[in-house]
Order: sequence, then C-alpha cells, then structure tokens
Amino acid sequence: MLTELKAKAAEKIKGIVEASALDIVELFELPKALEHGHLALPVFFLAKTLRKAPPLIAKELAEKIGQMDWSELDKADPVGGYINLHFHSEYLQKLLGDAVCKSGSQLGFGHLGHGQKAVVDYSSPNVAKQMTIGHLRATVIGQAICNLARSQGYEVIGLNHLGDWGTQFGKLAWAIENWGEEYPLDSEPMDSLTKLYVRFHAEAEKNPEIENQGATYFKRLEEGDQKIKALWRKIVDLSLKDYNRLWTLLGVKHDLVRGESFYNDRLKPTEELLEKKGLLVQSQGAMVVELGEGKPPCLIRKADGASLYATRDLASAIYRMEELKADLNIYVVGQDQTLHFQQIFAVLKKMGFAWADRCYHIAFGMYRFKDIGRMSTRKGNVIHLEDVLTKSVTLAREIIAEKNPKLINSEDVAKKVGVGAIIFNDLNNDRVKNVDFDWERVLSFEGDSGPYVQYCVVRCKSLIRKYGKKVPLQFSSVLDSDEERSLIKLLLQLDHVLAGAFK
Ligand code: ARG
Repeated sequence: MLTELKAKAAEKIKGIVEASALDIVELFELPKALEHGHLALPVFFLAKTLRKAPPLIAKELAEKIGQMDWSELDKADPVGGYINLHFHSEYLQKLLGDAVCKSGSQLGFGHLGHGQKAVVDYSSPNVAKQMTIGHLRATVIGQAICNLARSQGYEVIGLNHLGDWGTQFGKLAWAIENWGEEYPLDSEPMDSLTKLYVRFHAEAEKNPEIENQGATYFKRLEEGDQKIKALWRKIVDLSLKDYNRLWTLLGVKHDLVRGESFYNDRLKPTEELLEKKGLLVQSQGAMVVELGEGKPPCLIRKADGASLYATRDLASAIYRMEELKADLNIYVVGQDQTLHFQQIFAVLKKMGFAWADRCYHIAFGMYRFKDIGRMSTRKGNVIHLEDVLTKSVTLAREIIAEKNPKLINSEDVAKKVGVGAIIFNDLNNDRVKNVDFDWERVLSFEGDSGPYVQYCVVRCKSLIRKYGKKVPLQFSSVLDSDEERSLIKLLLQLDHVLAGAFK
C-alpha cells in the first residue's frame, strides 16, 4: 500500500535529498493525474540551503535519482518544484496483490491507534422523543468514526449517552399511570408517549395540581421509589425498542449504553471534587464554575438543587477516562452544543485532568429543508428521522417499479437503496457545514450518490460471477492499460485515505 511505498521510497532517496526518511514521508504528496506518477516530492524546503531555484533543484535531484540502482522505479520526473516518482506497473500490481492476500477485508487498515481505547459518544437520543433528522447526522457520522477508528487499530467503545433523566419523566410516569391504558403503548410507543406528554401539559394548564403531581413523581423517582422506577423503566425500554429498529436499519450498533441516569450516584462525588478544588462558587443561589476568557460560567447545580446536563457530562467524562480507561473521548454532537462542550472541557482542565486535551467534540452542521427552513424543535417543525427514511424507501420503491418492475426481492432492494442513499448523502456532505436536503440529489442514480455506489458494487459482483472462476489476486501478466494503472494507483491509496479520514 501507499504507506509502504512511501517508506521504501523515502529510505531510498534520503541520501540524495539530504533529509531524514521520516521528513520525506511527511513531505510526499499524492499526484492526482496518472501522468504525474505515484509520489511527488516538493523540493521548496531545499531552496534556502542550496541557494537555488526549486525547479533547478528538482531537475538535478531527479537526474541523480534516475541514475540510482532502483529496479522498481520507472522514472523520476522533475515538474516545477516537484520530483514526480513513477513506479513500474508490475511492481505496483504486486504490492497491491500482496496487500490483498495479506489483509483481505482489512485492506488499507492502519495503526494510528496502536491498540489505544477510544470512546465514541454518538446518536444518544432523548428518551420518549422520536429521533429527529438532527440525530441522523449524530448517528451516521458517529458510526463512521467508530468504523474508521477500528480501521486504525483502536479498541472502540461506541457509547450511547441516552437522555433518560429529567423532570419530564415524573410527568410521563404520572401520565402513563393515569391514562396509559387509553394508548397503544406497545404497538405505537413513541407516538403514544408523545401524545401522553402533550396531554399532560394541556391538562396541567387547566389544573396546576397535575403539574405538582408530575414534580412529586420525579422526586419519588429520584428517591428510588420502586413503582415510579418501574414506570420510568418502561418508558426507557419502549423508546430503546423503537430506536433499535432505526439503528438496525442504519447499520448502527452501540457497544455500551450509559444513559444520563447512570451517573445519578456519581454526581455528588463530582460536585465534591469541584468543591475540594475550590472551583464551585455561588451565583444567584445556583452553584457554578467560573471559566473566564469570555466564556459563560458552567452551571453545576440549580438553585432548587436539581443537577444539570453539564453535571452529568462532567461525571460521564471522568467515568470514561478514569474507569473505562479511554485514551480518546469523542462526542459526535451537533454544533449547537459547541459552547456546552467547550465549557465541559474547560472545567475538566481546571479540575486538573490532563486528559481533558484528549476529549473532542466532533460537531456537525444542521439539515436545512427547502420548504421549512432550518429545522427547529422550538418552532415545532421537527422532521423525524423515521419519516425521512420511510420517504426515501418509498421513492426507491417507486423508481424500481418504473425502471425494473420484474425485480425479485424488490422490497429488500428498495430498503437498501433508500436507506443507503440517506447514509451516503449525509457522509458525502461537508461535516461542519449546514446541509441543504435535496431529494433529487439524495436519490440520484448518478455521480456521488448512494445508489450509484451500490450500483458499482453490484456490477463488480456480477462481473466476478460471470467470470465463474476464482479471481486471482496476483496476475502473471502486467496490467498496463491506462485504466488498469489508474485503478491500481487509486486502490493503493486506500490506507492513506482511511488514515486521513480518521485524522
Ligand atoms: N441527548 C442529547 C441530544 O439529543 C445528546 C447527548 C450527547 N452526548 C453528551 N454526552 N452530551 O441532544
């Protein structure tokens, strides 16, 4: 693969270039066009010491490299301030063949992780609420990061920081107990939970006593009341069942669920630690950590004694790093929470945890839909993830009916194409920019689209099937047409691409 090629080439030319092999490896660039060879070495860094113009340096060094005893090298070509190295097709094809034989389905995997542990917090929806299109990004990007980290030799714990705690669960528990029988909780859990919650608020407006009941129920829940706890458990389980259905559809699997409630008995020790370090100060009855540098203070405990999202995140970061012994702590959460994570990391740093520097918030942009503008929960125009997936599968089904009505397994194909299109579209967009959601592009059967990639895979499989024999991984003849050379060049870059994507 490319890593190997770079290392070998650097070793070979380090004497001529008068730089360390490591530096040369870092300097190498990957030329796009086939006629620019396989590795390009910029020589601008030598201009000062050699007191010559880069093109002249490139010309002189390329000549020397060309004269070396180096059988794998076809030619060293000076182009401007670059030396382009071209290797023989035979050699490259063997390099690729050997890599395929050795690595199989792990082709291109690297070693950036060196067996270190990475916790990736992703998807993490809020119980009793349907996942929204915002969670799509947190889910798809998060799973991709897990996969990439694994490809780099990290031991990965994909973690679900389920939003399963808060005063709303007291209200919901009360609502289920009193009105639950009127709703099909088992067959339509999310819809029923949403309706119960809405009804609770509507009734509470007319009758404030209900509001008090909800608060009492949450208090009892916090105190460990078994009956309320069972109701809460039911809400969590019903929600998880629904999320699992969507995660399965999206090819997502968490390794560990550590919801917010998991940290209940770790909140006090966390506050005590903050206290001990002299970081907790009172502010209008609440407890906060001042951060300075123009950052708003981090709220740790409300005036009424209730703990907060931030407190749970502090406890959970400590848990991940100290108990799970993670080396990397990654949060895949929308950029609307950027300030929150800046505050969390700053507090952890103030607490003296050196590992605060190994916590990363991987933010992402929001979806924008042409018809409704930026999605906002407060305005009520929420787009549910489920609806987007269903619509995509429906559109795929319609396209199949039109283009290929006799297709067997058409329902299975519609699902794979519809869901694949959504996943590909998400990952294909710039991570940090907002995304304009465009159905036409999502389901396009051409260019950069999920269906097109799936089509290519299916075509390759069909070629292999028609060939009918075992495909050899090493060829006795040289594959030397431009198409073959381009393909081999590209495939050899896989290790570089995977490592770069992870970084
Ligand atoms: N439950 C939150 C939401 O849906 C995301 C949680 C992200 N993870 C974290 N450790 N705060 O917005």
